[in-house]
Amino acid sequence: MMEKKPNALLTWIDARFPLSKMWKEHLSEYYAPKNFNFWYFFGSLALLVLVIQIVTGIFLVMNYKPSATEAFASVEYIMRDVPWGNLIRYMHSTGASAFFIVVYLHMFRGLMYGSYQKPRELIWIFGMLIYVALMAEAFMGYLLPWGQMSFWGAQVIINLFGAISEPLAEWIRGDFVIADATLNRFFSFHVIAVPLILLGLVVAHIIALHEVGSNNPDGIDIKANKDENGIPKDGIPFHPYYTVKDIVGVVVFLIFFFAVVFFKPEFWGWFLEKDNFIPADPLKTPEHIVPLWYFTPFYAILRAVPSQLGGVLMMGAAIIMLFLLPWLDRGKVRSIRYRGGIYKTMLTLFVISFLALGYLGTQPATPILTNFARVFTIIYFVFFLAMPWYTRIDRTKPVPERVTFK
Ligand code: HEM
Repeated sequence: MMEKKPNALLTWIDARFPLSKMWKEHLSEYYAPKNFNFWYFFGSLALLVLVIQIVTGIFLVMNYKPSATEAFASVEYIMRDVPWGNLIRYMHSTGASAFFIVVYLHMFRGLMYGSYQKPRELIWIFGMLIYVALMAEAFMGYLLPWGQMSFWGAQVIINLFGAISEPLAEWIRGDFVIADATLNRFFSFHVIAVPLILLGLVVAHIIALHEVGSNNPDGIDIKANKDENGIPKDGIPFHPYYTVKDIVGVVVFLIFFFAVVFFKPEFWGWFLEKDNFIPADPLKTPEHIVPLWYFTPFYAILRAVPSQLGGVLMMGAAIIMLFLLPWLDRGKVRSIRYRGGIYKTMLTLFVISFLALGYLGTQPATPILTNFARVFTIIYFVFFLAMPWYTRIDRTKPVPERVTFK
């Protein structure tokens, strides 16, 4: 066989920058478990959506005007007059919801396969910080079109900080009411500060992942079983095997993504609310102020508590619970495949209550619905608070030595 000639340019670069080394470490010699399934598409999809948001965002900023008198009209201008403007705007608004769909599924995979357990606690913590940054990013982005829901949604959420202390709310707004100053600072955060933080966190997330190696649907440590060359027997090089596999996920995702962008960008009011096609009017409160769907589980928890301060604290606690997950879970196995009936039941109840809270958060807070929200809020917290106990007593099944394929 002919010996491959070293590429002169690559040799030159490698003497100055660890390009080949990084390529090997993170792609061609990063050994990922052979048994990744459907649920392992969402990490690369989250990366894809992040890129879509950044690129479409750059183009939006070229024509958007962050000013209370001009913002709404500049978005309409983008939609009607800027070449491809409506496509760019709808990609960005659909991308926001797609981001949360992908990230929620990505997090759920973590819950199913115990991906947050030792030694992956930091991957999870970085992930949770990403999640919080993403919520801040979406919240501030939603003010920018300066529609009715932008204005009143921000009003409701910033007033929550007023429940802690009024000067705090004023400090966030930069004025006594939501005004031009608020719009300008939200623009600055949405366009530069938070994206920078997000990018940094995503890099940290992946560095932590590559330090310990990926978990898998069986929750087994593939590094415990290596061949004579020190390569995990159940591992395959990420490139080309998973780069190619991930392209399949990307194509399927993009079919759904563009189906929404082209045919149903408002998604029946779930991705873009009707009231946000009306310019912000500080003198006219919309009938129902509802945040977008990805915030509604927490909004329902907030409203389930009678006192506003109590509601804010519960909402904060709901997120802190997720951060604590690696230390609440005392299970002896990682994957749901080998957990006992108790964990499976609790996880199912948790998912049902999260979805139910999400639905209730979109509905008017009638007494009956509020009571339902209280029940589901309790289930949400019991899932976490009782976890140290029920994961310990749960009857787990024996874990196989090598990965399995289902
Ligand atoms: C911008 C958002 C995010 C990006 C781009 C991202 C990216 C990735 C990628 C590329 C992987 C490896 C592929 C995979 O396992 O699917 C991964 C793994 C992981 N991510 Fe994320 N992630 C994001 C958000 C999150 C969030 C919000 C959490 C949880 C709070 C999280 C928790 C995890 C965990 C635990 C793993 C390891 C999973 C395993 O090995 O089984 N990630 N992430």
